[in-house]
Amino acid sequence: MSRKPFIAGNWKMNKTISEGIALVDELKGLIGDVSNVDVAVCPTFVSVAKVGDAIKGSNIMLGGQDTFWQESGAWTRQIAPSMLKDAGCQWVIVGHSETRGRFGTVDAELESVLSYFGECDTTVNMKAKAAFAAGLTPIIACGELLAEREAGNTDKVIVSQMKADLAGFTKDQALKMVIAYEPVWAIGTGKVCDSDEADRVCGVIRNVVKEMYGDDVADAVRIQYGGSVKPSNAAELLSKPNIDGALVGGAALKASDFAAIIKAA
Ligand code: 13P
Repeated sequence: MSRKPFIAGNWKMNKTISEGIALVDELKGLIGDVSNVDVAVCPTFVSVAKVGDAIKGSNIMLGGQDTFWQESGAWTRQIAPSMLKDAGCQWVIVGHSETRGRFGTVDAELESVLSYFGECDTTVNMKAKAAFAAGLTPIIACGELLAEREAGNTDKVIVSQMKADLAGFTKDQALKMVIAYEPVWAIGTGKVCDSDEADRVCGVIRNVVKEMYGDDVADAVRIQYGGSVKPSNAAELLSKPNIDGALVGGAALKASDFAAIIKAA
């Protein structure tokens, strides 16, 4: 089965409202003719609605960078999935390593008790289900730390994250979900994962999906690679059979770079 490539830009904590609008305005001009690749941008919560207005009628879709699992109530700081939907989102990233607290120089042992946002596989799973319930599609991120890779535990970590993060979806939800494999050590570091290795781990993820949801879902599910994706390495990564797209950080902040990655797909 052929899967439509999906390139999403995670702007993280970058771009003011006006900068975000300028970025998508430029991007629209560069990729207006692209129809064989799904494209989304994920701005900050404060700019998501305005950027959503700016891309109306274009081939660029909108996503949130995270969500809470409750729909409303006394949850200071949080954003409900229905609010993202209302702001024009179709997508939401859940379980990014930067919300799991699995990044930076905090060492692995300390980090396991220092999850900055209290994120764990259980909350990632709850967020994904809440996203589906609100009519959004989650982009579910997973990835191993450098220490976990060096200890030879990459597959074990990924399988355990995926089994917990993807538990209990309906078949229809599982068919729609998008998974992003983002090795933590490759994020924002310029150290891209070797394309064969990234493809291999995406294959491990596809196997977990197969075990949980069957062949047809494993065949249909789109798995993105994320971590230092750039115009110079995108074509190579995206040529791999198990890599169906990219979740792009730094290179999504410049329209020409992001457009080049989209065109490479
Ligand atoms: P970089 O592309 O900056 O490495 O970030 C990847 C990422 O974390 C996307 O979510």
